[in-house]
Amino acid sequence: MVSLNVNGRAYQVDVDPRTPLLWVLRDAVGLTGTKYGCGIAQCGACSVHINDEVQRSCSIRVGDVKASDRITTIEGLSTTSSHPVQKAWAAIDVPQCGYCQSGQIMAAAALLKRTPKPTDRDIDEAMTNICRCGTYQRIRAAVHLAANDTSKI
Ligand code: FES
Ligand code: FES
Repeated sequence: MVSLNVNGRAYQVDVDPRTPLLWVLRDAVGLTGTKYGCGIAQCGACSVHINDEVQRSCSIRVGDVKASDRITTIEGLSTTSSHPVQKAWAAIDVPQCGYCQSGQIMAAAALLKRTPKPTDRDIDEAMTNICRCGTYQRIRAAVHLAANDTSKI
C-alpha cells in the first residue's frame, strides 16, 4: 500500500511502488485530467504540483512520493475553475485540441506562485511544455493576464 495526499484528500493505493505517479493518479485515484504524452519527462502533459512545485508525474515513481507530500492535480487547482490561470485561459480561449492544456495550466500556476509578474523570457524559460497545436502565443498572453499585467498582452 502507498499513502498519498492528493488535492487535500488522503488515499491508500494498492500499487507497485515503481508505478509512475501519473498512472496511479489516473487509474487508481481516478483523476484523469492529468494526461500522458511522452512518458519520458519531455512534453509536460502530465504536470502536477508536488508541494507547490511543478513536476512531471510520468517520471516519478509513486514509491518515491512521501505520504506528507501535497500533490495537486488540475482537478484540485480550484473546485470552481476560478483560479486566475483558469480564468485567463478561458478569457483568451487558449486551448485548441486541449490535450496539453492541463499540464500547461499547472506549469503556469506554479510559475506565477514563484514569479507573480513574469516577463516573456520568464514564461518561455519556465514553461517548456509542448503543445502540438502551437498555442504558445496565447499561453503567454494568458499568463500575463493571470498576472494582471495587461500591458504585455
Ligand atoms: S507524459 Fe510526462 S512529460 Fe510527457
Ligand atoms: S492544445 Fe492541442 S496539444 Fe496543446
